[in-house]
Amino acid sequence: MLIICLYRFVVNAEAAETRRRRVFIFTSKLLACYFFSVITLFASEGLVPAGMFANHQCIQCHEKINAKLITNWRKSRHGKNDEAANCVACHGDSHNDAAVKARQDETCTGCHGGRDEPTVHSYTSSKHGLILKLEKKEWDWTQPLAQANYRTPGCAYCHMHTGEHNISASVRDMDLLQENSEEIKTVQDTVRSVCQDCHAPRYLTRLFENGEKMLAIARMKVREAKNLLLQARKNSTAEELEAVEKQYKKMQSVHLKNVYLGISHQSPDYQWWYGQPALDGDLLRIKGAISELIRIKAANGKEKDCTPTGGDGKAKPD
Ligand code: HEC
Ligand code: HEC
Ligand code: HEC
Ligand code: HEC
Ligand code: HEC
Repeated sequence: MLIICLYRFVVNAEAAETRRRRVFIFTSKLLACYFFSVITLFASEGLVPAGMFANHQCIQCHEKINAKLITNWRKSRHGKNDEAANCVACHGDSHNDAAVKARQDETCTGCHGGRDEPTVHSYTSSKHGLILKLEKKEWDWTQPLAQANYRTPGCAYCHMHTGEHNISASVRDMDLLQENSEEIKTVQDTVRSVCQDCHAPRYLTRLFENGEKMLAIARMKVREAKNLLLQARKNSTAEELEAVEKQYKKMQSVHLKNVYLGISHQSPDYQWWYGQPALDGDLLRIKGAISELIRIKAANGKEKDCTPTGGDGKAKPD
């Protein structure tokens, strides 16, 4: 900038008649060039400095521009946990397409377990995920994540709507057996504001109600299994119950979560295939295994009652 300026104005200064005047014009143009360059340099700093930056530099500078963005990120699981997902992880280390990079599903799915992980798969098997997959080539990620300017939502459209950096605002706490209706309402209000870009309010109310009902039925199945297990623990050893305990754990941590993911990511597969039927199967197997244990015990008990007669069924001689 300074060099172009000097060449264009200062070098051409010889045209003036007297030496004094030439010196005057020369120095004033030199000063003008200097200030012009300094001002443009500061102005461009004020706009967007190029980078590269380390993560703490992103935070330091952006805290001054928009403190709320940083506070919201810190409140979320991404900002806690030793900064599980920091600025650079989503945006890269410069301003080169920083927002465009962050909006794309690949940014999220890499960390969230890849295609086969239920969190991601429940989305890719939803209608939203399928449409995005089919139309990916025409997708324009330069658009901000709001105002229905995408046909269907990707991960960030729902979880970081209008630049919200607290991803945890759209997700309830994870003990799925507990029902905290206050918390669910807060989360649903946040989520609803996203869906309403594209769907009618009444449709969403029905959808959310049905979702909670479906989760309540799933919880009932897990509770039934738990009660059977509590009863069985009184009469059986840990070793005898090992397989049943394992099944129960899977029921709670995998299949109940699948129902939750099914209603969260609107995937019929997760609601009706990996979710409810899987829970039914678990419950049947747990019931079966426990009845079998009881039957064996009863049979053994009978045998024990018979021991005075001797194992062969004949009465012991007096
Ligand atoms: C020296 C200050 C400074 C540093 C360091 C800095 N930024 Fe920025 N950044 C800005 C300014 C100024 C803007 C433009 C104003 C705005 O959009 O908030 C901006 C804009 C952005 C945007 C919005 C761009 C868009 O296309 O809408 C993102 C995203 C961003 N910065 C991320 C980062 C990340 C990530 C880092 C670290 C790798 C970083 N910034 C480092 C000052 C900085
Ligand atoms: C989980 C990924 C993720 C992380 C982590 C993240 N961002 Fe972002 N950020 C995004 C997405 C996605 C957008 C685009 C939002 C939109 O289009 O409305 C965005 C938008 C922005 C913008 C533009 C905001 C606006 O309203 O125009 C800035 C500035 C920004 N991020 C800075 C940062 C800084 C600084 C950090 C680190 C504290 C950070 N981001 C961490 C994903 C992330
Ligand atoms: C650098 C890795 C990384 C990236 C990139 C990333 N995440 Fe995460 N995300 C995590 C980790 C780690 C957790 C916390 C998991 C935990 O605590 O069990 C998390 C948690 C979450 C949660 C759950 C929050 C809660 O309160 O339970 C959501 C929702 C989420 N991420 C969405 C996204 C979205 C959307 C993107 C892309 C815009 C994204 N993540 C990108 C690592 C990442
Ligand atoms: C249509 C909107 C929508 C899209 C698209 C979406 N999510 Fe979600 N996601 C939700 C909702 C709603 C919840 C659960 C809210 C609740 O707790 O009731 C959720 C829950 C989650 C959770 C918490 C449960 C868990 O498995 O730990 C994570 C993490 C997550 N989403 C990540 C992602 C990722 C990654 C993508 C993209 C592959 C994505 N989401 C796409 C709406 C969406
Ligand atoms: C950016 C627009 C957009 C947003 C935001 C959005 N959707 Fe959708 N959604 C669509 C489109 C488009 C379809 C496909 C409609 C069709 O062709 O059947 C769809 C389909 C669905 C379907 C399947 C309907 C069916 O007939 O199979 C459900 C359920 C759904 N969305 C729920 C939600 C929920 C809940 C949210 C918020 C968490 C949400 N959507 C956010 C655009 C959106």
